[in-house]
Amino acid sequence: MDLHSARIAIVGLGYVGLPLAVEFGKLRPVVGFDINPHRIAELQAGRDSTLEVEPDHLAAAKHLQFASDPAALAGCQVFIVTVPTPVDQANRPDLTPLVKASETVGRALKRGDVVVYESTVYPGATEEVCVPVLEKTSGLHFNTDFFCGYSPERINPGDKEHRLPTIKKVTSGSTPEVADAVDAAPRGRLIRDSEEPVRDAVGRFRTQLFQRAMQQKVNAAEAAFPPSAQRQQWPANAAQGPSSDQLPDQ
Ligand SMILES: NC(=O)c1ccc[n+]([C@@H]2O[C@H](COP(=O)([O-])OP(=O)(O)OC[C@H]3O[C@@H](n4cnc5c(N)ncnc54)[C@H](O)[C@@H]3O)[C@@H](O)[C@H]2O)c1
Repeated sequence: MDLHSARIAIVGLGYVGLPLAVEFGKLRPVVGFDINPHRIAELQAGRDSTLEVEPDHLAAAKHLQFASDPAALAGCQVFIVTVPTPVDQANRPDLTPLVKASETVGRALKRGDVVVYESTVYPGATEEVCVPVLEKTSGLHFNTDFFCGYSPERINPGDKEHRLPTIKKVTSGSTPEVADAVDAAPRGRLIRDSEEPVRDAVGRFRTQLFQRAMQQKVNAAEAAFPPSAQRQQWPANAAQGPSSDQLPDQ
């Protein structure tokens, strides 16, 4: 599977989707799709109201076609979903835009296609929420007929130093082949675990970060109170533990 030659669609052209569509559109044919016709109209006029993409970069994306009509998605083989994932009043994830976008993509899906989710979701959401919608609307089977990737965006709007092409990303895929393809795609980067389900790859990455943070704290505590010192001083210092000026800089 080679995502370099596939025709790409970016679904959702906000802070995340537009810069991605523009980078691809400088190099190859890409469809930028958004349900908001006003957003499409301003982009077609060469203006980005989010100010993420300068007019000259927008103009340089010569292979980028904007559309609010889902018919434009026909013929695309890779769908990158970058729609919003807000929370409701009780701070629960509202996955409505993600479900709607998955329905739209599902209707355009063909055998061999790949859907990559870049929206920020909780571990498991891709397989438990999005994949069933794709299967239902397309009538195709996951990991037999079509495949998925998860590659959450890490862009920081307004940050002019760390731009989209240089930001490191976590990537994963629903099979080792798809994980390789997502990883090798122009935006693909690096901390990846291709042999595991998408949910587990992300979960494991989080676990590793947590373990690393905990290990740093243990190292700092040991540096402040080496085992021999601990034996001598304990329990005299037990109540307060090491003060912040006793801990080494990290
Ligand atoms: N903005 C950030 O700083 C940032 C950073 C990293 C990750 N993310 C994540 O990326 C995702 C996108 O965020 P954003 O800031 O780009 O959102 P945004 O609100 O700026 O843009 C989303 C776009 O998607 C469009 N859209 C909504 N539903 C759609 C649908 N069904 N089909 C097609 N288009 C649809 C909207 O019209 C809008 O133009 C979110 O999950 C967010 O959490 C955002």
